Amino acid sequence: MGIKTVILAAGQGTRMRSSKPKVLHKVAERALLHHVYDTSTELENNSIIIIYGHGGDLVKNELKTLNAEWVEQKEQLGTGHAVQQAENFINDEDKVLILYGDVPLLKKTTIDKLLENVSQKSIGLLTVNLDDPTGYGRIVRNNDGKVLKIVEEKDTNQEEKLILEGNTGIIATPGDLLKQWLSKLENGNAQKEFYLTDIIEMAVKDGVEVKTNQPDTQDEVLGVNDRTQLAHLERVYQLEQAEKLMVHGIALRDPRRIDVRGKFSELGKDIEIDVNVIFEGINKIGSNVKIGANCILKDAQIGNGVEILANCIIDNAIVGEQSRIGPFARLRPLAELASEVHIGNFVEIKKATVAKGSKINHLSYIGDAEIGSKVNIGAGAITCNYDGVNKFKTVIEDGAFIGSDSQLIAPVTIGKGATIGAGSTITKDSPENQLTLSRAKQISVEGWKRPVKK
Ligand code: UD1
Ligand code: CA
Repeated sequence: MGIKTVILAAGQGTRMRSSKPKVLHKVAERALLHHVYDTSTELENNSIIIIYGHGGDLVKNELKTLNAEWVEQKEQLGTGHAVQQAENFINDEDKVLILYGDVPLLKKTTIDKLLENVSQKSIGLLTVNLDDPTGYGRIVRNNDGKVLKIVEEKDTNQEEKLILEGNTGIIATPGDLLKQWLSKLENGNAQKEFYLTDIIEMAVKDGVEVKTNQPDTQDEVLGVNDRTQLAHLERVYQLEQAEKLMVHGIALRDPRRIDVRGKFSELGKDIEIDVNVIFEGINKIGSNVKIGANCILKDAQIGNGVEILANCIIDNAIVGEQSRIGPFARLRPLAELASEVHIGNFVEIKKATVAKGSKINHLSYIGDAEIGSKVNIGAGAITCNYDGVNKFKTVIEDGAFIGSDSQLIAPVTIGKGATIGAGSTITKDSPENQLTLSRAKQISVEGWKRPVKK
C-alpha cells in the first residue's frame, strides 16, 4: 500500500493582489508549493499529485522539475471537486493524503501522526484549536467527543460558530473509501461548492471513525492568503532555521536577525554569526568561522578559521582557511582564494585564483586573473581585463608587488618577485625580480609662481 499525496494548488489567491499565482509566492526564496512538495517527499513509498488551475502554466513552468503528476482543475468548484480531479491516480489500497499548496510549514512529524490514524475503519483529520476560528470550517463533535461533521463558516448556525476547533483542511483516508465519498458530493451549500469536508459526515454514516490529531503549533497549519500572512510565515520559518543552527552549535548574535534562504552542505563548529547575515543557495562553512554584520553569502565555500568582516558579499566563491575578508569586500563568481589570503575594503574579485598568503587590501578590481602566493597588490591597483569585446587574463606570479594605483592591461604577466612602481600602466609582460614602471618623470620648476587674480 502506497501513499498518494494530493496537493491542492488551484486556488487564485485574490488577496495577495498579485499577478503571480499564490502558490508561487515564496518563503525563504522557495515557492510555497515547493515547500509542501519538499515535505511530501520525506514520506516513504509516496507519489505526489498536484492539482493546479489558476495561472497553471506559470506554476508548472516554474516548478517543472518536481517529480509529480500535474492535474489541471479547469474550474475551481471547491476542494472536493479539486480532489476528484486526482481520482484516476488513486488506487483502492492507497492511503491518500490531502495537503494544501499554500500551507508551507506543515511538519512531517504531524503528517506521520495523521497517517497513523488511517485504516479501513478510520480516517485521519488534522484539526487546530484557535483563539479566533473565523473563516475556518468547524469540527462538530458529539457528547462523547466523537467527530460528527465539519461545517463551513458560511454554513454554521449560532451554536456552531462558537466552536473553536477548526479544520486545517488536511486529511488522510483510504483510497477506496475516498473515491466512494467523492462520487456522492453535492454543492447544495452557501458557496455552491463541492466541499471535501462533506466526506467527514459520510464517513461517520458509514461507521468509519474520524480520528483527529493537532499540529505542535498553529503556524504549522497556517495558510497564506495575503502578504501579511506570507511575511509572518517567513519569520516563523527563519526563526526555525536559526534554532536549528543554534542546536548545531552555532553562535547567533540575534536569532531574529538572520535569514537562511537555502541550505548548508556542511557546517563546522564554533561558527559566530553577527546580525543581518543572509545565506542563499547552498553554502559550506568550516569551523571557527566568524561572519560580521550585514554579509550575504550565496553558494559560498568558506574554509576553517576564516574571518569575514561586516558588509561583504560572497557569491559562488571559495575562501581558503584562515583568510580574512572585508569589511566591504565583494567576491563574485569563481573567485577562488587559497589559505591565509587577505581581501580588504572595496575590493572586487571575479573569476580569479589567489594563492596562499596574498594580500589585496584596498580598492582593487581583480578579474580573470591568476595570482600567485605572497603577492601584494597595492591600493587602487586593477586588472583591465576587458577591451569592450573580449576578456583577457592577467597572471601575477609568486611574490610580486604591485604598486598602488597601477593598471595591468591584460593579457599580461607579472613575473615572480617583480615590483611594479606605483601609478604604472602595464601593457607588456614584466620580468621577474625587476622594478618595472611606466611613469612620466617628476619635475619641479624652480622660480615658478602661482598666478594671481587680475
Ligand atoms: C478550506 C476548508 C475549511 C478549512 C480551511 C482551512 C473546505 C470546503 N473548506 O476552506 O474547512 O477550515 O480550508 O484553510 O474544504 N483549492 C483548489 N481548488 C478549488 C478550491 C480550493 O485547489 O476548487 C485549494 C486552494 O488553492 C487552497 C485549498 O484548496 O490551497 C483550500 O482552499 P480555500 O479556498 O482556501 O478553502 P477555504 O474556503 O479556506
Ligand atoms: Ca484558505
